[in-house]
Amino acid sequence: MAILKSPFAHLDLERFPVQQNSPLQAFNAADEYLLQRLHELRLPKGSHVLVLNDSFGALALSLCQQYRVSSCSDSFLAQQGLTNNAHSNQLTKALEEIKRASRTCELEGSFDAVLIQIPKTLALLQDQLAGLQKLLNADTLVLAGAMIKHLPRAAGELLEQYIGPVQASLAQKKARLLQAQVAGLAEQPFPVSSTYAVPEFDLKLVNHPGIYSQDKLDVGTRLLLQHVPAGLGDQRVADLGCGNGVLALACAQLNPQAQLVLVDESHAAVRSARDNWQAAFGQRDVEIFAGDGLRTLPPASLDLVLCNPPFHQQQAMNDFLALRMFRQAHRTLKPGGELLVVGNRHLGYHAKLRRWFGKVEQLAAHPKFVVLRAIKTEKTGQTPAEKS
Ligand SMILES: C[S@@+](CC[C@H](N)C(=O)[O-])C[C@H]1O[C@@H](n2cnc3c(N)ncnc32)[C@H](O)[C@@H]1O
Repeated sequence: MAILKSPFAHLDLERFPVQQNSPLQAFNAADEYLLQRLHELRLPKGSHVLVLNDSFGALALSLCQQYRVSSCSDSFLAQQGLTNNAHSNQLTKALEEIKRASRTCELEGSFDAVLIQIPKTLALLQDQLAGLQKLLNADTLVLAGAMIKHLPRAAGELLEQYIGPVQASLAQKKARLLQAQVAGLAEQPFPVSSTYAVPEFDLKLVNHPGIYSQDKLDVGTRLLLQHVPAGLGDQRVADLGCGNGVLALACAQLNPQAQLVLVDESHAAVRSARDNWQAAFGQRDVEIFAGDGLRTLPPASLDLVLCNPPFHQQQAMNDFLALRMFRQAHRTLKPGGELLVVGNRHLGYHAKLRRWFGKVEQLAAHPKFVVLRAIKTEKTGQTPAEKS
């Protein structure tokens, strides 16, 4: 755990999922700068503050004892981090208030201040700013922050387009703030959700702002699609980290009796997958949910897992989430069940999958990617303990 010290609170914060011995922190210098600036601006106690894209509760939990805080994020993992950190910092009661004030993020009313951690994808920022317009009044304080290396010029341009004139701060510990003055602009449109076709499966897919590979089919996904099996009968298949659901949709098309489970930690991805499923299969039964991978599924309940795993969490690149998914897949597969994975060649997933799976084979290779099949050969069905 690392301690976030601000004029509002001292908090012990952890990322979610917790990664032992990792140098990654649950907050960054942009969080510290946002809190410091808000304190300097002397927002009256009891004001209503909206936090967007908080990582693991750094902002919301710092502010919740002085202000009424709503917190919205596209990320289920970030929300889970907020919950865990609230409990470990004895802020459980405040968490209930935050959750009540935020509910589904379909917010109403008006806010005295909005704090934004600028997200990785500008399409998501644009979508959030479009939704924000009706929640502001002339005096609302709008402060956005990011580490400079993750702050494109276009973020400031979007703030100007949707909110009003922007003033950039000096850099502090490699972070910068953008303060936007609400200018009462004519309401600007929401960004359009993109669509692209996958002719091999006669699919036209909608992609809501902010999801992975929003404008075109990922090259790795295209390769994995060629290996989605037919002839599964009524087997139970998960699309782990489903994005717009393309792998599950292809599998469901090839296997009309199969039972599909789709999960992603991004709410925008889950909305996209639901819309795409509905368009392709109407009322056909399916489970689609926002969650932490297969964590809530019973052990030995799946026959097949399809996965194009993530290689970063928010701005941080690493294979921790992918390896966690492989372990979850092993736990939830029946003995004899299979995990089909596509990954960047250089990530060495072949060797890593062997930590859990009795048999791992390469099905296809491409200059950049490999498709691997990992088979759960163990008769006990138990998942070995983490070795890393
Ligand atoms: C490389 S993308 C693949 C998306 C889609 N399957 C495709 O092939 O286009 C990985 C996906 O995993 C999701 N993800 C990351 N961590 C997750 C977790 N712990 N649980 C569920 N989904 C997660 C990301 O939001 C992202 O949509």
